[in-house]
Amino acid sequence: MDLAGKVAVVTGTSRGVGVGIARELLRAGATVVGCSRSELPGLPAADGDPAWQERSAQWVCDQGDVASIEAFVTRVVETYGRIDILVNNAGGTVPSPTPEDVPELVQKIQGSPRSDDAFTRSALFHAYAVQMNLISPLWFSLRAARQMLTQDGTASIINISSGAGHPVGSPTLVSYGAAKSGLNHLTRSLAIEWGPKIRVNCLALGPTSTDNFNSFVLGDHDPTDYFRDVPLKRAGEPEEVGRTCVYLSSGKADFINGTTIEMDGGMLQGVLYDAGLKTITDLL
Ligand SMILES: NC(=O)c1ccc[n+]([C@@H]2O[C@H](COP(=O)([O-])OP(=O)(O)OC[C@H]3O[C@@H](n4cnc5c(N)ncnc54)[C@H](OP(=O)(O)O)[C@@H]3O)[C@@H](O)[C@H]2O)c1
Repeated sequence: MDLAGKVAVVTGTSRGVGVGIARELLRAGATVVGCSRSELPGLPAADGDPAWQERSAQWVCDQGDVASIEAFVTRVVETYGRIDILVNNAGGTVPSPTPEDVPELVQKIQGSPRSDDAFTRSALFHAYAVQMNLISPLWFSLRAARQMLTQDGTASIINISSGAGHPVGSPTLVSYGAAKSGLNHLTRSLAIEWGPKIRVNCLALGPTSTDNFNSFVLGDHDPTDYFRDVPLKRAGEPEEVGRTCVYLSSGKADFINGTTIEMDGGMLQGVLYDAGLKTITDLL
């Protein structure tokens, strides 16, 4: 298997995309340590497979707390001796109808600190989105790199970004889009800083089929209508993201560094060119 003997840390593995990433890394032979704020008896991706359970752990870590990251990474190194792969997956947000007045329900769903005051609520909502989607991945990368830079071989960091970080901007997701755009940029900078010891790459996801995406984003939309502009006409699957992580962290991708791969079924092109191509077609 491609990743036999490698130790991988994946953030946000209690549900969603992180489960698919952890599962595919396990399938490729890696030892996988996952984390989330909630305490769980084991890594959900390993459920039902004793060999995978043997090769995995799920520990509590709040990536918003630098001391929690320090304690978690220290425990990984003390237990497994090294870190070959870090996938910064934990993050996300929910759309807000306006950037300046975030509804209490939206704040609650995102999980950001609450406030009865409208301005304070909006300010905390945006600060939280930037913390979770840019600053915490940087904190995790810095702490993991302290270990990775001392090891033999080349380590791999993969940041999970979003199409919302596209340079055209991202209405309803203004702070999240800015944070993910920053994450793409951070990926390039850290790749330069840490090469050749660490390769740093990024995956910018389009709609990916998780419980949260299905309830809060897809909701009651008709999937055929929702995915009309996506050339592949569907959402991605967490395991598809996981298989790209396996590829990026395996020897097969040794020369891929500092790049952001769009994993969205061609959605950006579909959305951007829908209007333009229609106009051109009308002219012909
Ligand atoms: N799903 C999509 O359509 C989509 C699209 C584009 C990009 N993405 C990106 O993909 C990544 C995963 O998204 P998802 O849809 O799988 O989200 P999700 O279903 O909300 O899962 C988020 C995971 O992160 C954990 N987490 C949240 N806050 C944390 C914290 N402070 N410290 C540690 N762990 C924390 C959660 O566990 P606890 O709550 O137990 O802590 C959970 O395991 C995110 O970076 C998101 O921006 C997703």
